[in-house]
Amino acid sequence: MKKPIGACKLCAVEIQVKDKPWKVALSCAVKTGEGLQVKTDTEAVRLARSKAIQQLLALFSAAV
Ligand code: FES
Repeated sequence: MKKPIGACKLCAVEIQVKDKPWKVALSCAVKTGEGLQVKTDTEAVRLARSKAIQQLLALFSAAV
């Protein structure tokens, strides 16, 4: 399987591994494993996805 390049950032989620702090990560680039917790709908996730969409729209509108 090819390694994801994480270009669009629309798959942002919050993850926590064991007792480490929660952080925003790209789900396509995170390997699952024991102790991994995932939140898909938090304020941080919505903000990260919103920024990603704004960046994509800016790139798209600059290209047309
Ligand atoms: S960065 Fe695009 S699917 Fe993960």
